[in-house]
Amino acid sequence: MSSLTPIRFVDYDPKAIAEMTGRVAVMVTPDGSMDQAARSANRMSKGAIARLIDSEGFKKAKAGDVISLGWPAGMQVEALDVLVLPRKLSPVEARQAGAKLVKGAAGKRLTVMAGSMNKAADLTLGMALRDYAFDNHKSPKGNKPEGEVVVASKSPAELEAACAPLLAVAEGVHMTRDLVNEPANVLTTTEFARRIEEMKGIGLEVEILEETDLEKLGMRTLLSVGQGSESPSKVAVMQWKGGAKDAAPLALVGKGVVFDTGGISLKPAAGMEEMTMDMGGAGVVAGAMRALALRKAKANVVGLVGLVENMPSGNATRPGDVVKSMKGDTVEIINTDAEGRLVLCDVLWYAQERFKPAGVIDLATLTGAIIIGLGHENAGVFSNDDDLCNAFLKAAKSEDEGAWRMPLGKAYDEQLKSRIADMKNVGGRPAGSITAAQFLQRFIKDDVPWIHLDIAGVASVSKDTDYAPKGATGWGVMALNRLVADKFEAE
Ligand code: BES
Ligand code: MN
Ligand code: ZN
Repeated sequence: MSSLTPIRFVDYDPKAIAEMTGRVAVMVTPDGSMDQAARSANRMSKGAIARLIDSEGFKKAKAGDVISLGWPAGMQVEALDVLVLPRKLSPVEARQAGAKLVKGAAGKRLTVMAGSMNKAADLTLGMALRDYAFDNHKSPKGNKPEGEVVVASKSPAELEAACAPLLAVAEGVHMTRDLVNEPANVLTTTEFARRIEEMKGIGLEVEILEETDLEKLGMRTLLSVGQGSESPSKVAVMQWKGGAKDAAPLALVGKGVVFDTGGISLKPAAGMEEMTMDMGGAGVVAGAMRALALRKAKANVVGLVGLVENMPSGNATRPGDVVKSMKGDTVEIINTDAEGRLVLCDVLWYAQERFKPAGVIDLATLTGAIIIGLGHENAGVFSNDDDLCNAFLKAAKSEDEGAWRMPLGKAYDEQLKSRIADMKNVGGRPAGSITAAQFLQRFIKDDVPWIHLDIAGVASVSKDTDYAPKGATGWGVMALNRLVADKFEAE
């Protein structure tokens, strides 16, 4: 597993730049004014920064850009990273700048001369988020140097305290990315459950429900998805009790299909390897629970994930099979590749029956159709409750995580009518993401505020994002953490 590079907070001393090695970042405003550390570095380098500011290139620089001056004369550093930053900047701009700074600094020492900058905590969070690589399956090439990040501040102790909860969230994001990036022969249902159980060490209560427990509970739709696999189906329950004793919890529910072959409705070979990320919803739930526990959130939150593998075999569910859900409704499984909803419907029902939650949010890499609709920029947001939904959209926006509301509506239910059972599991091509959400809504009790997040397009992407290298993004951990802080946390 990758872990956060330790960040050291030290006193701000511009004169000390003379002895520094590795990379040193200093700040300059877009109109070319240098802060104290930049002036100091400019003197040491005999005017290198001033010459940069006078150059044509600098005129084109945008806020947040990093311009690196390699091996400046008169200094020990390998590079001076000149960060172009306006004096007033938003938290998101500060994060993006931090992410850009750290992007080129893997395995190096990076010292950021933050001074008294007021968004230093967000800048630090941006560094922590981007400081990620999933390389534990690559053979080591030579001695990989350990990187180090140092933040020099006029009030290092205060800054360190302000960063602690943010770095807890970054750790949650990294956990989600590790889970999503991990191949399916490593991250089996059993290994996923083990990694969740490990979080007992940070104060979460964890239970693993095994197949015999799930049979007793009547979770037949969930079990029907995993029955073709050698890996046992499981449901993991994580409880964080940081709030008032009697406060109803928020329930987070995740789709954890560790690999989705499609089952008997087998997917085409091209691109099937991507289905190693089909446990993305469960990955976000685990990462969010980690973040909440690490920062000791003053809220009650329960995370439930359905862990299964969708494989074809002699025992696999056939198209046309009819199964009964825990709720009691029967489902005709027209297409075994529409398996995520079969997993979620039982876990959603169990979550409501057992925990009487104040709200339910499910996350799932549920439909290819959401990628057609929204691409890789926004997750699809479906909800039966405007208040909760708007609070979530606001949280996602302030965390720079794309989210876009989609409609629900009775009319779509027509598409789910079955000739022989209470419903079928697919509604045809039109509005594929909406009919999937309609299916889930049948398992949400009337008075329970609910959000369904279809994260198929955002959980893992093939290009670098602002905060992550290509692959798993960790999308959602920060928005959910923010929502908990804004709506569910006691003062
Ligand atoms: N896990 C897939 C959805 C998916 C597609 C996630 C692409 C990430 C990237 C899901 O289980 C699935 O196969 N959905 C089908 C549903 C269809 C059979 C109704 C789909 O979207 O094609
Ligand atoms: Mn599928
Ligand atoms: Zn799937």
